[in-house]
Amino acid sequence: MHDQYDQLGKLREMRARAFEGGGSERVQRQHERGKLTARERLEWLLDEGTFQETGTFATHRTTDFGMEQQRYFGDGVVTGFGTINQRRVAVFAQDFTVLGGAFSETQAQKICRIQDMALASGIPLIGMNDSSGARIQEGVRSLGGYGEMFTRNVLASGVIPQISVMMGPCAGGSVYSPALTDLVIMTRETSFMFSTGPEVIKTVTGMEVTARDLGGAMVHSSKSGVAHFIAEDDHSALEMVKLVLSYLPQNNTENPPRVGTYDAPTRMDDELNTLVPTSDDEPYDMRQVIQHVFDRRSFLEIHASFARNALVGFAHLDGYVVGVVANQPAYLAGVLDIDASDKIARFVRLCDCYNIPLVTFVDCPGILPGVLAEHRGSIRHGAKIIYAYCEATVPKISVVTRKAIGGAYIAMSSRPMRGDLALAWPTAQIAVMGPRGAVRILQRQELQEAENPAVLEQQFVEDFREKFYTPYSAAQGGQIDEVIEPRETRPRLVLALDILRTKVQHNPPKKHGLMPV
Ligand code: HXC
Repeated sequence: MHDQYDQLGKLREMRARAFEGGGSERVQRQHERGKLTARERLEWLLDEGTFQETGTFATHRTTDFGMEQQRYFGDGVVTGFGTINQRRVAVFAQDFTVLGGAFSETQAQKICRIQDMALASGIPLIGMNDSSGARIQEGVRSLGGYGEMFTRNVLASGVIPQISVMMGPCAGGSVYSPALTDLVIMTRETSFMFSTGPEVIKTVTGMEVTARDLGGAMVHSSKSGVAHFIAEDDHSALEMVKLVLSYLPQNNTENPPRVGTYDAPTRMDDELNTLVPTSDDEPYDMRQVIQHVFDRRSFLEIHASFARNALVGFAHLDGYVVGVVANQPAYLAGVLDIDASDKIARFVRLCDCYNIPLVTFVDCPGILPGVLAEHRGSIRHGAKIIYAYCEATVPKISVVTRKAIGGAYIAMSSRPMRGDLALAWPTAQIAVMGPRGAVRILQRQELQEAENPAVLEQQFVEDFREKFYTPYSAAQGGQIDEVIEPRETRPRLVLALDILRTKVQHNPPKKHGLMPV
């Protein structure tokens, strides 16, 4: 017969074993790689003393491949609940020291359980991923587990924020679940994401590639667009989670938290009046516009290295969270290409899910022309921007700073696409196409018959510019609500968003639309 002390002793001993993960040697290897363990990550992320674990003693039930000797409490993932800056969250952290964090049926059960509870309670879910993918020894059972997890990722999408932190080599299903979540953070040197790792690629294709070149943080944040943020190490990745969460609500029925600000809502910034260069094709950095307009140092850029011809991110305006979308004339003249379309459309939908008003700054010469762009589907991808803005019911305000030509004008949050307010700076140029292209079509015959076509063309171009390359014809037609001095932008936006805060708009009932994916 056991007395109470024995029972408590057993519990404490089992807990101590669970806390050892895959053993001291593997923990040491984890540390040598510059990585924290799953429990150290949770400790850093959550408010002190708030972690409530679930499934500490869960183990796998596999007997093949000597797995009976490889049973670890927790089975390679730590799951539970806690708070971050007093806000409730659900969390899981995979433990690479246990069988490489490989995903098992038991891991699936543990993670799905907190996914269900997070969804039912309307709280964000944060996943710290450090897993080599489906556990090979379990065969189809681990694959089935992914199916269960993916289903919950999708059902929770747009209901509760889901943030994925990639903190080790992640393969197979361990990258597809993060890809279904809202935002992905990768540690710079220690995380990798690939469907199959370099070994398998070598076996199947004969090609040799390093993990970093295949799926390192730089690749995914600049080329593929899978990752939204890079963090220098585990600690900064976890700090990034806290920062990102501070811009998001707990769920889609709430608004993001308002923060205190010392930046006056009425502040006007004279520098804005001279920020747009007088010459048409001279670049300027749209980030500067954003920094001058929104609350100081509040802009959190997302996807900063991907499709740099567009800018997206969260900012505060009078302490309220807004989503900022902009063309970036400093990079490829701010043209809209396939990646920029994906970046913008995804961000617009993210903001619409979580009740975050959108402010869009437009300076775009149009959609990237060319055979390659057409063949790669610039129509299909460009249509995503239109779809996302038209569908979004959050307040939407646009500010045309310079070029808004053709498709770019209409697609970038224009009034006719259920935009709530369209502002333009006096430097705005709003036209169907560029002046030279336009006169060559409209005045082709006169140019063909002219004695000196070059001089005449230049004269036509100037006439065209005078007529259309201003905001006033758009303002006369009601497409632009107001032409404002650039320095007035901040107070105008504050006032407009204050009015629009109670905006209610619904889309027709339907199962779902068919976004051009
Ligand atoms: C079980 C695994 C495993 C796996 C690694 N391990 N992968 N155990 N199932 N999938 C074990 C290793 O045996 C080792 O155990 C420990 O984890 C660490 O692995 P290492 O290879 O020593 O680590 P490292 O050199 O850092 O390499 C990490 C890695 C590599 C790049 C992730 O292990 C790898 O390529 N693994 C296979 C990845 C993969 O192809 N997964 C896809 C599965 S299919 P010990 O005992 O030595 O510590 C899939 C399909 C889902 O997920 C589809 C969804 C749509």
